[in-house]
Amino acid sequence: MIHTPTVRPRRLRATPAMRRLVAETRLHPAELILPLFVREGIAEPRPISSMPGVHQHTLDSLRRAAAEAAEAGLGGVMLFGVPERRDASGSAADDPDGILNAATRAVVDEVGDALVVQTDLCLDEFTDHGHCGVLGGSGEVDNDATLVRYRSMALAQARAGSAMLGLSGMMDGQVAAVRDALDEAGHRETALLAYAAKYASAFYGPFREAVDSQLSGDRRGYQQDPANRREGLREAELDLAEGADVLMVKPAMSYLDVLADVAATSPVPVWAYQVSGEAAMIEAAAANGWIDRRRAIEESVLGIKRAGADAVLSYFATEIAGWIR
Ligand code: PBG
Repeated sequence: MIHTPTVRPRRLRATPAMRRLVAETRLHPAELILPLFVREGIAEPRPISSMPGVHQHTLDSLRRAAAEAAEAGLGGVMLFGVPERRDASGSAADDPDGILNAATRAVVDEVGDALVVQTDLCLDEFTDHGHCGVLGGSGEVDNDATLVRYRSMALAQARAGSAMLGLSGMMDGQVAAVRDALDEAGHRETALLAYAAKYASAFYGPFREAVDSQLSGDRRGYQQDPANRREGLREAELDLAEGADVLMVKPAMSYLDVLADVAATSPVPVWAYQVSGEAAMIEAAAANGWIDRRRAIEESVLGIKRAGADAVLSYFATEIAGWIR
């Protein structure tokens, strides 16, 4: 006897109109944030070979990229600076005329309130050793000495006009330290995006080229072990208690379980970062004709949203917004 099903989920998949109506998750430009790199001392934007389509910008080309992002309706941009000179304490990071702070002023001037202009708050782009903090006597990253540097960097970024500081260094107590410094100086409105769960990941590979990282060794002494899920919740709880306005999980694709955990309990928005290596994998496979580039990009970002992200940082943000329209 042939069994005839009475329950038929395929009914809701039958036509594009039906699929569109029952979709649980959608992409919207306002929930996309574009990371941008600006490099000091160059006359023309420089392509980053491991990230097709992504550049180290000049101040002028950065303005144009930010204006395009605003035009595309994105929610925000996240700025990363590549200074000409680096030193042990990363002194260009809190120099008001340092490249990241100058770029922040330029972008705010360019886009006004059309985008939330955010800045990476970390020392790795500014130190000659490439670590996210200052080094102690035995060569390890000194947590509490780094907090002093982060406080100063936060003030410089807030003064430059950054609306939200992206704390990506994974130092213990960094959210509380920066909140305190900002409040003390009257920057009560500056928001904090805490990279609550940030893992020591191979998928940051192309980013190292993007910022000309000087790092030898790795960041396992401060970024999280990819083996640990529960620890993601612990980091999120601590950052919330310290005053984080938004929580971030990073990378995205290999950490969707952590993202889902954090999103299930967080009272504040939860974002995820589709990092450089995730983008590079899609580009490389697509360049070989092994996957459909556009479908892979849309599916990857949709998957990140489905797992619980309220917004996604993606190098494809402007392009995706163009497709949605
Ligand atoms: C730290 C920082 C990194 C990334 C964002 N912020 C590098 C790191 O932690 O090693 C990586 C982002 C990416 O790979 O796209 N400043």
